[in-house]
Amino acid sequence: MIKKIAIACDHGGVGLKKFLKDQSFSLEIEWIDLGTHSEDSVDYPDYGYALSETITRGEAEYGIAICGSGIGISIACNRNDNIRAAVCTNTTMARLTRIDNNANVLCLGARIIGDVLAYDIVETFLTTKFESGGRHERRVNKLKREN
Ligand code: RB5
Repeated sequence: MIKKIAIACDHGGVGLKKFLKDQSFSLEIEWIDLGTHSEDSVDYPDYGYALSETITRGEAEYGIAICGSGIGISIACNRNDNIRAAVCTNTTMARLTRIDNNANVLCLGARIIGDVLAYDIVETFLTTKFESGGRHERRVNKLKREN
């Protein structure tokens, strides 16, 4: 089955975004590329918000958000109640944020990690399932604003 993945970055993440889109993963991916497309300076919140809204509208199952550190764009994504965005710098974080937090946006710092590690993190994130029905689900439900 093809997974729709939204991907967005600021100017700091253009190279890593292109690298990831050029790779093959163990699942078939249809990328929804929300930009930016050049190294001209832009503002990471604009791209984090666009990514979050795309997921909220149900147009993509997961998102990958990239900026220089991964942090700014993660803060932007997490302002949307439907988003659980996690900055991951290794595959263990990627695995645990899926199992424990049901994260739906993976944030990467293009100035922090290399392309090959980023590939492994994305592969891990996209292939690890949330452990639903128990304590993790109870905790994730408590993250909703009304709870
Ligand atoms: C852009 O230069 C940089 O500030 C941005 O990519 C990010 O690292 C912010 O958190």
